[in-house]
Amino acid sequence: MRKYMLKLGILGLGEGRSTISAALSSEKWELKTICDMNEDMCKQRAKEFDFQNYTTKYQDMLDDQEIDVIAIYTPDHLHAEHIKQAMLHGKHVVCTKPFIDDLAKANELLEVAEKTGKKAFVGQSSRFFEPAKRQRKDFEAGLIGELITVESHYHADHRWFLKKGWSLLNSFKWLYGGLSHPVDFIRWYLPNVEEVMGYGMISSNGVTAGLKNEDTMHFIFKASDGRIARVSGAYTGPTQPASRDSGMTVILRCTEGASQADYHELRYSVTDKTGEEKIVRWGDDTMKHYFRFEGQSHHAGEYQNYLDYFADSLNEGFTAYPDIKEGIGTIALLQAMDRTLQTGMPVKVKDILKEFNISPESISL
Ligand SMILES: NC(=O)c1ccc[n+]([C@@H]2O[C@H](COP(=O)([O-])OP(=O)(O)OC[C@H]3O[C@@H](n4cnc5c(N)ncnc54)[C@H](O)[C@@H]3O)[C@@H](O)[C@H]2O)c1
Repeated sequence: MRKYMLKLGILGLGEGRSTISAALSSEKWELKTICDMNEDMCKQRAKEFDFQNYTTKYQDMLDDQEIDVIAIYTPDHLHAEHIKQAMLHGKHVVCTKPFIDDLAKANELLEVAEKTGKKAFVGQSSRFFEPAKRQRKDFEAGLIGELITVESHYHADHRWFLKKGWSLLNSFKWLYGGLSHPVDFIRWYLPNVEEVMGYGMISSNGVTAGLKNEDTMHFIFKASDGRIARVSGAYTGPTQPASRDSGMTVILRCTEGASQADYHELRYSVTDKTGEEKIVRWGDDTMKHYFRFEGQSHHAGEYQNYLDYFADSLNEGFTAYPDIKEGIGTIALLQAMDRTLQTGMPVKVKDILKEFNISPESISL
């Protein structure tokens, strides 16, 4: 039986391109309107997808009674306001990572979500990629035992990103824009991180471009049960060949095995509890699902996966994760990481929450 088709509006048509493709390919969604304040961008997407219903005014989508869900892909510092407006206008929300960029905005969003009863789901795309899904499935099936430690990195040559005007503003931090992916992976396997410490710097390439905040960072985490994890990010230099070193990786070291998910390469390896070693690759059809545009800078399969999962959650009444509480929990950890970069000292997440008057019970840590 075909379920209720949800009507979608998409805000921000740079990365929103992937969600246009996902919605148009899905039986669970009807794309109603696309929006970008830059009309040339609207026209470009209208032409690319032969979809003419665009607007340059967010208010038009907010006022459209037929739209059930708004998916947000505006610059990081605008997410909180755009999420709030959507919920106040009776829409559920998908918001790309990072969910917000400042914990000072968290309590108001939690209150608006509570008051309106609207759901906010974080479009944490990396969880919905094939190797990450397989790694999670094997872990949950008990194939490698209990987690001892987890490490994750996101290293990319994103010097092209320095040409976007908003990347050179004080408000832009790769800590939130980039590390939100591996930090989410850490929290997925090791919740309750209570303390973090790390160092960061701006590389000479970042300095030359006029970048204001760190582009190169290493951190270690300690959870409340004593387990430890680490994460790193480097964004303004060349990378190793992908066959040798994936740009984004999650390694689980467990009591009876270990596994590694390599993001873009669609590569997964595992040593399970029988001692068997396996390296899994996916074929052309799966490649086509994920990489449906030219090159690898945009890819849409994981957006399709998370959009359909969110549709199911709304139709069937279960919570889609990461939800608003988990999204804000990740921002709390990122903000603690921000503080350790500034002070060079270990930082406790609960001290950060106290500063922003956020009750630990109101979010997922
Ligand atoms: N894998 C992922 O999940 C992933 C990948 C890349 C980017 N992102 C996220 O997507 C977001 C957008 O990144 P991007 O690379 O597309 O940036 P971008 O600057 O290319 O695009 C942002 C678009 O938003 C539009 N915009 C800004 N303010 C607006 C407003 N008030 N109303 C309507 N349109 C507005 C701009 O005109 C622009 O076209 C960021 O938060 C980024 O972190 C997520």
